[in-house]
Amino acid sequence: MKTLNIIYWSGTGNTEMMAEGIKKGAEAKDIKVNLVRAEEAELNHVIEADLVAFGCPSMGAEVLEESAMEPFIDSLNGNNINKPTVLFGSYDWGDGEWMRNWEERMSEYGSNIICEPLILQNTPDDTGLSECEALGAKIASC
Ligand SMILES: Cc1cc2nc3c(=O)[nH]c(=O)nc-3n(C[C@H](O)[C@H](O)[C@H](O)COP(=O)(O)O)c2cc1C
Repeated sequence: MKTLNIIYWSGTGNTEMMAEGIKKGAEAKDIKVNLVRAEEAELNHVIEADLVAFGCPSMGAEVLEESAMEPFIDSLNGNNINKPTVLFGSYDWGDGEWMRNWEERMSEYGSNIICEPLILQNTPDDTGLSECEALGAKIASC
């Protein structure tokens, strides 16, 4: 059975809801899924997984959350992270700039991003949650 590690940061729970939707979608495809909070994430959570999802809302001014997620993502640079990966996160007033920058950066780090990142404004509604489940199913098929 393949393992998907979903590593995420969430302050008010919106990105966490997305992570849970992705988990549900992947589990329906017989994937073992672990939710890992950024505060507890280690490089091995990426190295040892078959599939990876990273989630973080837009924080600061269009950047990743700076105390846990940013240093964790920085630690991936120069490591062997070339495995099927998806990115996701919640935002509010911006236009998704944080995610565009993050995706570009992950590609520079050697990440294998399999599809367009999923971004949802504020709390996911039912449509948004369905999109999360579909993303979970998609990475499960890699
Ligand atoms: C300190 C702070 C900075 C934020 N900066 C941005 C931003 O630059 N652009 C944006 O679109 N949303 C911004 N937001 C809104 C969050 O991305 C949004 O509330 C999101 O749903 C939070 O996700 P979470 O519930 O997973 O923490 C910011 C929120 C906070 C608290």
